[in-house]
Amino acid sequence: MNVTEVLGLPTIETELARLEPLLRESVVTGDGFLDEVTTHLIAAGGKRLRPVLALAAATSAGRDATREDLLGAVAVELVHLASLYHDDVMDEATMRRNVESVNSRFGNLVAIVAGDFLLARSAEIAAGLGTEIAALLAKTLGDLCQGQVTEVRAAFQVGRTEDDYTQAIAGKTASLMATSCRIGAITAGLPRDQVEALTTFGRTFGMLFQVRDDILDVVGTEEELGKPAGQDLAEGIYTLPVLLALGDPTVGPELRPLLGQPLGQPERDKARSIVATSPAIAASVAAGKRYAARAAEAAGALPDAGLRSGLARLAESLLQGLPTA
Ligand code: IPE
Ligand code: IPE
Ligand code: MG
Ligand code: MG
Repeated sequence: MNVTEVLGLPTIETELARLEPLLRESVVTGDGFLDEVTTHLIAAGGKRLRPVLALAAATSAGRDATREDLLGAVAVELVHLASLYHDDVMDEATMRRNVESVNSRFGNLVAIVAGDFLLARSAEIAAGLGTEIAALLAKTLGDLCQGQVTEVRAAFQVGRTEDDYTQAIAGKTASLMATSCRIGAITAGLPRDQVEALTTFGRTFGMLFQVRDDILDVVGTEEELGKPAGQDLAEGIYTLPVLLALGDPTVGPELRPLLGQPLGQPERDKARSIVATSPAIAASVAAGKRYAARAAEAAGALPDAGLRSGLARLAESLLQGLPTA
């Protein structure tokens, strides 16, 4: 997915090029080893989705990004990066952004401390942007941790409710997407109604984004994803497609006895294939569509036509490539 192309806002590409050196600068200390660890995933790439959201919000109505807008975008990407460092430790993941994950390359201890370092740098930048943004980012980080804890607590629980899932993804993913949009709107000084509309867009877009990620974990391949597929079932993280499959009378009874404990490779493949070929995939895509519609509705309240349609297109694009979408 080329995010800026889908958005159809060509100036964002230019702004991202301005962001890149600031992002690197923000994590470099001069300590060769630490710099290698903190720049590992920045150098590997990634979509820069959260900075794109912040910059798209900040540059509506054709305004160029200011230094403040760019720093806001750096701050949200740093929180995201830190969450990936920590998430890959929690998931024991070996690959991220098509390269070896930080935990796999440098070990868990280094990955945890380096993630903390990225959060510290984000907080430092946020403090320079004022108390509203500093408080917002701190709150978002709390939401993110709460979402991750909710998820960890539900590991291997076949009785996990859809509501528990929704709460977990709202915290771990949607909150930072909402904040990314909101920070751009705040640094640009947009009127409050637009700040709120952009925040709502980011939140529903984030829900859709995680539902899509969870569907792809079941139906995608490592090559497509740039990270291991089937990771969620392996870790006992029962996401929307799995929960819907468990509740489905045609496949639920076959799936249920396989879950609830760590699985060997053959059982894991079997469980994954049961979910992948069940009606739960189409039902999950339908849930994604509902979030996409809500995201487009929120974007519809924005006065800038380019941003309005670009954001709606971006949400819609997440449904592309999903089965039956
Ligand atoms: C990955 O986010 C973590 C989730 C919320 C699923 P991205 O898919 O935005 O990761 P990068 O930044 O492109 O690597
Ligand atoms: C997103 O959830 C976690 C974060 C918010 C960092 P996942 O655990 O599904 O993310 P991936 O699939 O590892 O990228
Ligand atoms: Mg993960
Ligand atoms: Mg995932």
